[in-house]
Amino acid sequence: MAAGEGMQTTVFFDHLWTDYIRMAPRAATLKAVFERGGETVVNDHVAFRTFDLDPIRIDALEPHILALGYKRFAPYAFPTKHLTAWGYVHTEKWQPRIFLSALDTSKLSPGAQTIVRELCTQIDPARIKDPSVFWSGRLWKPVTHAQYQSLLQESEYAGWLAAIGLRPNHFTISINHLNKHPSVDAVLQVAEAQGIAINTEGGRVKGTPAVLLEQGSTLADQQPMQFADGTFIVPTCYYEFALRHRDASGKLFDGFVPASADKIFESTNVKRSS
Ligand code: NI
Repeated sequence: MAAGEGMQTTVFFDHLWTDYIRMAPRAATLKAVFERGGETVVNDHVAFRTFDLDPIRIDALEPHILALGYKRFAPYAFPTKHLTAWGYVHTEKWQPRIFLSALDTSKLSPGAQTIVRELCTQIDPARIKDPSVFWSGRLWKPVTHAQYQSLLQESEYAGWLAAIGLRPNHFTISINHLNKHPSVDAVLQVAEAQGIAINTEGGRVKGTPAVLLEQGSTLADQQPMQFADGTFIVPTCYYEFALRHRDASGKLFDGFVPASADKIFESTNVKRSS
């Protein structure tokens, strides 16, 4: 990307990180722990959630990502969660990947669809024209806590998005760039030593070297959020850890593994198994 073509990718990610650690302060704590231990923390990818409704469909948000120098890498589907997604890679390979998913709202009950459509009708389309939409948070008035809970019953994703809005759902530490912590489990142990709970859905470590990607994550921080009828503490954002492997031709895997990501999504669940 030539200079002057708009926002630079590093500036874009600085804004995202500032918003993210406000929602997930423990991620900043954990990053600092690794850095104090002499590690360089590199971001593997950041992920966003949206609805498949105007004006925040993937197609409407994606132009900002492409303008930063990203290109579509691969589409993904998560049928049991009614999600589709795109992975994006930057033309400068050292830049973090981006994962943008959307909920197929047609799979929700009529009642839940009504709630979600009402949120999207409140969005000022002008907000979508600026890259800052990716750290805008709620683009609608707060839902009631009862609406939040009724969405959660059908889709944890829908409830999260209604309450938390459009912003980074997680950042991801690239284990490939760590020197003293060579495995997902080694990184998870550092998080646990800080008193941070781990997502154990599908096991502590999701994926294997055979599928070229191993992942783990914290459980989302819990933060007070404003609802129409008061302030309630809800899961916000989490920190992910990714170890990428090389394929038979020696090329580092750039994609995502749906079976693993399906479990990583559950890092924001309100009901927690651990
Ligand atoms: Ni991820």
